[in-house]
Amino acid sequence: MGKALEISDLKRMARRRVPKLFFDYADSGAYSESTYRANESDFAKIKLRQRVMVDMTNRSLTTTMIGQPVSMPVALSPTGLTGMQHADGEMLAAQAAEEFGVPFALSTMSICSIEDVASATKKPFWFQLYVMKDRDFIANLIERARAANCSALILTADLQILGQRHKDLRNSLSAPPKLTPKHLFQMAMRPRWCWDMLHTQRRTFRNIHGHAKNVSDLSSLGAWTAEQFDPQLSWKDVEWVKKLWGGKLIIKGILDPEDARMAAETGADAIIVSNHGGRQLDSAHSSIAMLPRIVDAVGDKVEIHMDGGIRSGGDVLKAVALGAKGTYIGRPFLYGLGAGGKQGVTTALEIIRKELDITMALCGKRRITEIDRDIIAESPF
Ligand code: FNR
Repeated sequence: MGKALEISDLKRMARRRVPKLFFDYADSGAYSESTYRANESDFAKIKLRQRVMVDMTNRSLTTTMIGQPVSMPVALSPTGLTGMQHADGEMLAAQAAEEFGVPFALSTMSICSIEDVASATKKPFWFQLYVMKDRDFIANLIERARAANCSALILTADLQILGQRHKDLRNSLSAPPKLTPKHLFQMAMRPRWCWDMLHTQRRTFRNIHGHAKNVSDLSSLGAWTAEQFDPQLSWKDVEWVKKLWGGKLIIKGILDPEDARMAAETGADAIIVSNHGGRQLDSAHSSIAMLPRIVDAVGDKVEIHMDGGIRSGGDVLKAVALGAKGTYIGRPFLYGLGAGGKQGVTTALEIIRKELDITMALCGKRRITEIDRDIIAESPF
């Protein structure tokens, strides 16, 4: 891990250690992947102001996200199948985040369950909810998140219908994964990954398996998952979830100022400007391009977070400067996890923290809470 200087180093290492179908699952976007690429490349179009002869000592990256203290404004995104990047992936990533002092968000479509992660951590984590058609199952899931002491619920709004990722189809990746001879060959090429995976029981969607009606084996789980995303999801459902949950609520997947206004009206504690890491609507704008417009629309009404394309601490700084109170990283932590388990996730966070700290200092600032548009020299957004 010591050799990793930037997130792309972790990506290279993960590619060598994770079976191709799961590495590709993380490293993919919808259709032509133009939004996936734009999420990253649009950050490079923003230029920062270099300042000199200012006191750069005693710097601090600590701040809050939805009122909770964080050691830097970066949380780990909820990502499905994380326990396939590395055995027990969600538990390891949650531990790394806890020790680092940043939030970990567990996906509904995780391999390790809410209860698994709760047993591996001491502090509350966040839970991401897909509101599926089976509302009894969802009510029960919310109850389980409460029982596990989760301190925020993230309702994902941008996956009413699953976007198509060509790489997954080419790899015959299904949910949950069903092994074919090609997959077995890909796994055999990654013996360390196999060894770890053979030593865990956690190899299916444990939030669902054994909890949803009529889901008793892998094939019924596959059928259930395929038809459960709800194309009729509406703002009324958000109200229902908010009432049932009663705690901090974050709405994820907002990319349009009009939707941002509706989301703010629900009384949510925060919204996440996000296009699901470029995995849903191809040709949608990048998240960083839409962030300032959404801040202008609702920045005085609701806390604004963003994700998508963050690959360095410099990117985090730019997002904060354009109005994000918090950011999230998806692939950067998945690459760290694939490259080296818990230590790999810690390395990803350390890389980002160091870059954020140095970039902030070179902009002449000492506290992340002081950052605003003043540090931007030029931005097309
Ligand atoms: C995701 N994302 C996601 N979001 C969500 O709300 N629930 C989920 O289960 C998943 N699953 C998932 C799997 C994988 C492999 C990826 C890469 C992403 C989206 C995720 O939370 C986040 O929005 C993006 O990952 C952010 O973009 P970056 O940081 O990956 O560029």
